[in-house]
Amino acid sequence: MDIILLGPPGAGKGTQAQRLVERHGMRQLSTGDMLRAAVKAGSPVGLQAKAVMERGELVSDEIVSALIGEELDALATGQGAIFDGYPRTAAQAKSLDAILAARGRTLAQVIELEVDEDALVARICGRYTCANCGKGYHDTFEQPKVPGTCDKCGSHEFKRRPDDNEDTVRTRMGEYRAKTAPILPIYEARGIVARVDGMADIDNVTAAIEGIIKR
Ligand code: AP5
Ligand code: MG
Ligand code: ZN
Repeated sequence: MDIILLGPPGAGKGTQAQRLVERHGMRQLSTGDMLRAAVKAGSPVGLQAKAVMERGELVSDEIVSALIGEELDALATGQGAIFDGYPRTAAQAKSLDAILAARGRTLAQVIELEVDEDALVARICGRYTCANCGKGYHDTFEQPKVPGTCDKCGSHEFKRRPDDNEDTVRTRMGEYRAKTAPILPIYEARGIVARVDGMADIDNVTAAIEGIIKR
């Protein structure tokens, strides 16, 4: 089963995708994570993406669709994909249809995380991740059980994203409103959109998503 998690920056796409991975053995395909890895590695894609991401603008459709195709080919047989942060434009939505069709896969569900934009800056500006395993945390909303120690892998190293500052977050939100929100009708017409209250606490959002994918 392949699903899209759709929502503005800070909506909780990554947080919920990590939980689906743990519970269902699905694979999280986050174009943001793939691009950050490319930037870190200094690959040609990374060199092209770095400044664009730091401004909070969108990287080209061709680059991200190519990344998604490669990652899908690495999935185990029968393993479901969670698209996190992709597609983000009408052109990417079209590419995804072709990418899935070429591999005999079908999109089961688009889950929109509905959130109040005012809360997102606080969420994003408090966010950090484990530098070793990537598990996400938040200064206020999701702290490690033992302070300074990752729950999942025990590492003591954490990091913050360079695009997680208020100015860049505002640009990212503008990009979402202008280019990403308008793709929802494509999926609404197919009857596969479900909405979840992304302002509920993290466990309740997970429960709502579980209810949708079990239907
Ligand atoms: P990307 O990495 O996808 O960033 P984003 O869409 O801006 O989304 P975030 O990762 O910021 O938010 P999230 O929804 O995952 O929230 P999270 O779960 O972490 O993209 C980054 C950049 O890469 C883009 O700006 C663009 O340049 C480029 N890019 C990526 N994909 C692209 C594409 N397809 N096309 C073109 N360019 C692309 O949660 C946030 C925080 O809130 C966490 O700390 C979490 O603990 C906390 N939290 C989560 N849920 C809750 C809750 N219910 N209550 C309280 N706190 C919560
Ligand atoms: Mg994310
Ligand atoms: Zn860790």
